[in-house]
Parts: sequence; structure tokens; C-alpha cells
Amino acid sequence: MEWGMKNRLSRIFKSDGRTVMLAVDHGYFLGPTERLEDARKTITPLLPYADSIMLTRGILRNCVDASMNVPVVLRVSGGASIISKDLSNEAITASIEDAIRVNASAVTLSIFIGAEYEHQSIVNLSKLVDEGEKYGIPVLAVTAVGKEMVRDARYLGLACRIAAEMGAHMVKTYYCKDFEKVVNGCPVPIIIAGGKKIPEKDALELTYNAIREGAAGVDMGRNIWQSDHPVAMIKAVRKIVHENVSADEAYEYFNSIKEEIVVKT
Ligand code: 5RP
Repeated sequence: MEWGMKNRLSRIFKSDGRTVMLAVDHGYFLGPTERLEDARKTITPLLPYADSIMLTRGILRNCVDASMNVPVVLRVSGGASIISKDLSNEAITASIEDAIRVNASAVTLSIFIGAEYEHQSIVNLSKLVDEGEKYGIPVLAVTAVGKEMVRDARYLGLACRIAAEMGAHMVKTYYCKDFEKVVNGCPVPIIIAGGKKIPEKDALELTYNAIREGAAGVDMGRNIWQSDHPVAMIKAVRKIVHENVSADEAYEYFNSIKEEIVVKT
């Protein structure tokens, strides 16, 4: 692997090979998502605990200070919204030059396996990998976003494997039963999304199970910043990802610190 590519990946995946990526890109198709309406207010207190941050160039330029030192995973796909006919009708929406301009450590896009615009999204991925390889910028492929699909090991395994075959350097997917099968069939690191907000204990359990079954970390959004205690939550997630604590221990830790942390607004 080329030096720049290796260096960028090592900024995202820490020395244990794992990452806590903070996902705040939701607005690119969901608009002002609950508790991410004022993105600066949501993001700022969480940044010190994020190994990397996934977002669009609009939120990056307007809501994040340029002096921060957290690796940026830049969302460069879009073109559909939650109210459009088909969420899968995406194109590449930012150039590799702009990714370089904002000092991105990686670029990311979605692929929509089994959806109407599957072909287009896979071709988007291949082209983005070509661009990324030119400049040593890794590509994170996001799989399985959308409403109507069964997120089981067969489907997620298919989506992750296709992403890796097209050259993605890392893949984001969802945790599922028999998750090891998804991991075993995918030769690049897999990180998991949290999905819709669930109770903190359940989200920590999900994280623990995913890590135990081979995930290289999380790319988590709503289960962190829609918590009433987002800083305590990201710190508890870190305990599992980087310190291998159990879900129960992480939940105990969450409860022990949640009242102490006062977020200044
Ligand atoms: C949407 C995304 C989100 O970043 C992803 O779903 C992760 O966030 P959450 O943990 O809230 O599910 O890529 O396309």
C-alpha cells in the first residue's frame, strides 16, 4: 500500500486496529435530523472523543473549526432525499480535489445493493476508488442504508463483499445475527452503524457483540448524539472498542459519569 494511503488509514484506525468514527452526515438526505439541527452544538463536545468524524463538506466548513485535529471522513455522495422516489439514486457530489482541500483522511459514499440504482452506485464506488488511489485517499463504502431490506448476514455479506471487490478500503454495515459470516467474507475492515436510537444499554450491547465478532469499530451517530448524555455515551463506546470492556461494564461506566458531564452551550 502506498505511504499516503497507509498514513491516512492509520489516522483513522488507531494502533489497536480499531476506530470510533462519529457519524454526523445524516443531514445530506434527512435534513435537520433530531438533535443534529445545530450541528456545531452537537459535534463540538464529542470531537475530543472521536477517532474520526464522518460528515459532508457543508457541515465541515460551516460547523467545525479548522483548527481541530480529528481525521475527516468526507461524505461525497448524495443526490436523493428522504422524500424522493428512490434513495438509491445517488451520484458523486464532491470532487477529490475538494476532499484534498479540506484535508480529508478518507472519502465515503453509499452503495445500494438490490435497489433500483444498484448499478449506478457500484460504478460510483469504482470511480471513487480510482480517484482515491491516485492521491492515496482511502474510500469507505456505506452499505445497507434504506427502508425496505432484510439486513441479515446473507444480504450484508453480499453488500460488504461487493464493496471490497470494487476496491473499498473499509466498509460500513449493520450488525446482524451470524455477523462473523459477514466479517469472514470481507477482506477489508468492517465498522458498524448504530442505526435508529435504542436504549443506551442495548446500543452498548450491540457494539460489544459487533467487536467480539470481528468489527474493527463503529461509525455511530444517533445512538451517541440522540442520547440525553452524548459525551458519556461516546466515552462508554470507546471503552468497548479500545479497552475491550464488556457491555455491562460499559453501561455501568456510562451511568457513573453521565451526570458529571455538563455540556456548555
Ligand atoms: C447514512 C449514514 C450514517 O452515517 C449512518 O447510518 C450511521 O449513523 P447511525 O449510527 O445513526 O445509523 O451513513 O447514510
